[in-house]
Amino acid sequence: MRYAPATGRPCRVVVLISGGGSNLAALLQACDEPGYGAQIVAVGADRESAGGLKLASDAGVPTFVDRVSEYPARDAWDQALTEHVAAYEPDLVISAGFLKLVGPEFLERFEGRYINTHNSLLPAFPGMNGPKEALEYGVKLTGATLFFVDAGMDTGPILAQVSVPVLPDDDVETLTERIKVAERAQLVECVGRLARDGWTLEGRRVTVP
Ligand code: GRF
Repeated sequence: MRYAPATGRPCRVVVLISGGGSNLAALLQACDEPGYGAQIVAVGADRESAGGLKLASDAGVPTFVDRVSEYPARDAWDQALTEHVAAYEPDLVISAGFLKLVGPEFLERFEGRYINTHNSLLPAFPGMNGPKEALEYGVKLTGATLFFVDAGMDTGPILAQVSVPVLPDDDVETLTERIKVAERAQLVECVGRLARDGWTLEGRRVTVP
């Protein structure tokens, strides 16, 4: 499936977060650059405490929060999240530290347009503790992966990867921070290319012209 770049306007992006939003901050800064090609039209979170919400509102970007506990069932949350994101008519939805697996309705609505950044070199160390598990395993290289989200946990088609060395005196914190630096640069570079050039997704093969 080919996703053409938006013509005559920037690519509309909704970013989903749960945390401090350093990836969001990098994207907001990039979107201010002339010619970057993307505009963040809304930021959504699954919790009020997500620090990135303030970054967004300070930048004049609309925000919304959908807490799972507000809904009678997970499907109802998924439906509400889908509708809230869809209301902003995004070309691309980015999970940037969003600590929730979305459900079938969301995946169907944003199929091929929903990407996630993860702090390991997938398929190694999926899930919530990528840097910790990489350290415990003793790998010498880890990194970050940008991928299209599918129904699995960190299993979708891979868009880009960047490697980061594991240093002998690393702890979880230092490794996590080193990965985040490379992860942000990759996210900004790749989202700009997607926005300006579009992309093709065929099975697990992703092509950005
Ligand atoms: C990123 O490293 C992401 O891979 C992980 O959570 C981090 C989000 O950080 N799932 P931030 O909220 O963008 O600072």
